[in-house]
Amino acid sequence: MATRIDGKVFAATVRDKVATHVVRLKSDHGITPGLAVVLVGEDPASAVYVRSKGKLTVEVGMNSMEHKLDTDTSQADLLALIDRLNTDPAVHGILVQLPLPDHLDEDLVINAIAPEKDVDGFHISNVGLLGTGQKSMVPCTPLGCLMLLRDHHGSLSGMNAVVVGRSNIVGKPMAQLLLGDSCTVTIAHSRTKDIEALCRNADILVAAVGRREMIKGDWIKPGATVIDVGINRIDAPEKGEGKTRLVGDVDFASASEVAGAITPVPGGVGPMTIACLLANTVTACCRANGVEEPVGLTA
Ligand code: GUN
Repeated sequence: MATRIDGKVFAATVRDKVATHVVRLKSDHGITPGLAVVLVGEDPASAVYVRSKGKLTVEVGMNSMEHKLDTDTSQADLLALIDRLNTDPAVHGILVQLPLPDHLDEDLVINAIAPEKDVDGFHISNVGLLGTGQKSMVPCTPLGCLMLLRDHHGSLSGMNAVVVGRSNIVGKPMAQLLLGDSCTVTIAHSRTKDIEALCRNADILVAAVGRREMIKGDWIKPGATVIDVGINRIDAPEKGEGKTRLVGDVDFASASEVAGAITPVPGGVGPMTIACLLANTVTACCRANGVEEPVGLTA
């Protein structure tokens, strides 16, 4: 039976480290890190995420600035807000919640954020810096996965890693991070031939496809470490009428019979994403002020 990698507990330790550093920034330098979150429109899932981000930002002692804009906000108005946040010295991190309404150009908006304040790590400068092994802002979810893997294994050097999913938010940066830690990395996706055999060769398997319970136990190499990034909401009639529950991209029951270690859903990667957002904000604040960065909170 696989070891359960507890992201909830690990995320709390990351937030503690962030909070300790925030105390030091305040007492030694008189600086309070500030995170600005921009939410355009009424998407209920996004609203839940933004609330939760705001709450945890305040809990670690940082300032949280929320900007809620109407669904029909124009591109010019959104860009003008980003411009103001870029030049506001009290703002160290800027996050524009995705997805944006259809009439807004996501790439243009993300690339308008000052790269050093881009705590999502989505700006093309940060993507390029990560790809060339330079200091950058690292996307939060893959950074959280990397922290869990490093904590579990120590060194990842020489391991075969397969990342299932090629998104800009998770799959591609995850592959870069694993390569940076000297794994042999393969990215699999919907057109990959014999994906099951490929996965069975993985010492580290990261699932980030957004298809519920797609990866079964017999896709997994015995003893492998499985990181499940998927968050899929499904009906759960066993819990009562109209109830739902979350499942990952991995079939947890069969996979945990074969894997050496596995992250559950919920309570695995999910809590790490916001913890890493807070870590990125404190890192950005330190870099902006020429203060020593916390150790172990970035790639
Ligand atoms: N929407 C879903 N995940 C994310 C994320 O990591 N960052 C942003 N900005 N929006 C998201």
